[in-house]
Formats: sequence, C-alpha cells, structure tokens
Amino acid sequence: MAGSIVILTGAGVSAESGVETFRDKDGLWSKFDYREVATPEGFSANPALVHTFYNQRREGLAKVAPNAAHVALARLERERSDEVTLVTQNIDDLHERAGSRNLIHMHGELAKALCGRCGMRHDWRETLSTQVPCPACGKTGGMRPDVVWFGEMPYHMERIYEALRACDLFIAIGTSGNVYPAAQFVQEAGRAGAHTVELNLEPSETVSDFGEVIHGPASRVAPEYVDRVLRAK
Ligand code: OAD
Repeated sequence: MAGSIVILTGAGVSAESGVETFRDKDGLWSKFDYREVATPEGFSANPALVHTFYNQRREGLAKVAPNAAHVALARLERERSDEVTLVTQNIDDLHERAGSRNLIHMHGELAKALCGRCGMRHDWRETLSTQVPCPACGKTGGMRPDVVWFGEMPYHMERIYEALRACDLFIAIGTSGNVYPAAQFVQEAGRAGAHTVELNLEPSETVSDFGEVIHGPASRVAPEYVDRVLRAK
C-alpha cells in the first residue's frame, strides 16, 4: 500500500477517551436538540444556552486524553510524513495532543473562538459568554465558538477535496456517515481510484460505499490497521 492517504475521523475515535458521541444511544443528540445548540438560528435565539453547551465541552477537554487510536494515527503521519492528511469532524483537540500535525478540523475547534463582528479567530480555553469582549475589536456580543454549525460551510473544503482527489487510500474511522459533506468523501476518494476502508464500531450509513470494512473499537482496529499500512510500506 503506497501513496497518499486521507483519513477522516468522527466522534467514535474519541469515544474511548470519554468524549460523548452524537448519535449513539445516550449520545449528545439524545440529550440536546441540535437545532437549539448547533445552528446559527439557535445561537441567535438563545446565545446563553449555546455558550453553556460549548463551555461544558471545552471544560471537558482538560479531563480527557488521547487514546490508542489517536496515537496510532499520529505515528502513521510520523512514519509516512508527506503522505498523510488527517481530516477530523471532531472539535476536540485529541489528535493534536497525540502528535498529529497535518490535521484539518473541518468542523472547527472547541479551543478557538470567532468574533462575529470583526471575523478574528482567537485561541480560547476560557468560558465564552455574550459579555466577553473580542480581544481584537473590543466589541461584546459577537463572540462565538469557532465551530461549524448545521447550515454553515465546513472549513478547508478546497484543501480536503484536493487531497481526496489525489489519494490512494481513504480510511474513515468512528463516523456514522450521517453528516454531509463528510459522508460523501468516500465516494470522492473511490472515484479517484483509492482503496476505501471503514473502521467503525458498527456499520455506518455509508458502509456499502467502502471497499473494505473492519468493525470494532477504534482503540483496537485503528492501531491494527496502521500497523498493516506501515508493514506494507
Ligand atoms: P456520530 O455520533 O454520528 O457517530 C459516531 C460513530 O462512531 C457511530 O457510527 C458509532 O457506532 C461509532 N463509534 C462509537 N464508539 C466507537 C468506538 N469506540 N470505536 C469506533 N467507532 C465508534 O458522530 P460523527 O459521525 O462524528 O457535527 O458525527 C458527525 C457530525 O455530526 C459531528 O461532527 C457533529 C455532529 O452533529 C456538528 O455538530 C456540525
């Protein structure tokens, strides 16, 4: 297995670190209405509720650590440096804490804030509220988590599609295949002639689009698959 590798990760890769997924039983969308906490309309209607939701997730980052799946993906990048692009839908920071560098956060990052008034992004570890002024423009009321909500355009799409069109191996890990455009990356990679692999606890919505499917917990199946790729070098 040679050539360029694109990996797409979702909430399942962080589940064994203790980060809640969205659509599993007891997942976040069984407790919260995504329209209230993850849309621009929800934020306009009740910014305090949305800030509380993301403040809790941001605080949670300090209580979790990368698991064997994050570590294996960082190792793959280290050993196959120029060839690995890691695209994550996750807004946690576990991939970078495990050592991944060529990493694209297509749904944004919990540890960043965006000022809706001046458009500046800021590293952000504290709580956010409607009272917090933007460190750049000084205005209050515009600060929001730098995350992509439903109805908004995911980040870095041009770079992602470029990588997909050039890839030889596409691996999706821990994602249910419910959210577009990420759910159709497998088709884009397949059209480019890539071998496509699903590593997930259970069959995803898009399982039939993959050429190879391995089901199991990410902390086991991801390191095993990485070993296989590195052995085939
Ligand atoms: P989901 O919660 O939809 O799916 C998580 C997937 O991970 C499921 O298919 C689980 O079976 C699988 N899974 C759970 N535990 C696992 C484990 N230990 N090992 C391997 N797989 C496991 O999460 P995403 O697909 O990431 O977007 O969701 C995509 C987007 O929907 C998120 O980025 C978020 C959400 O709404 C926004 O908020 C915009």
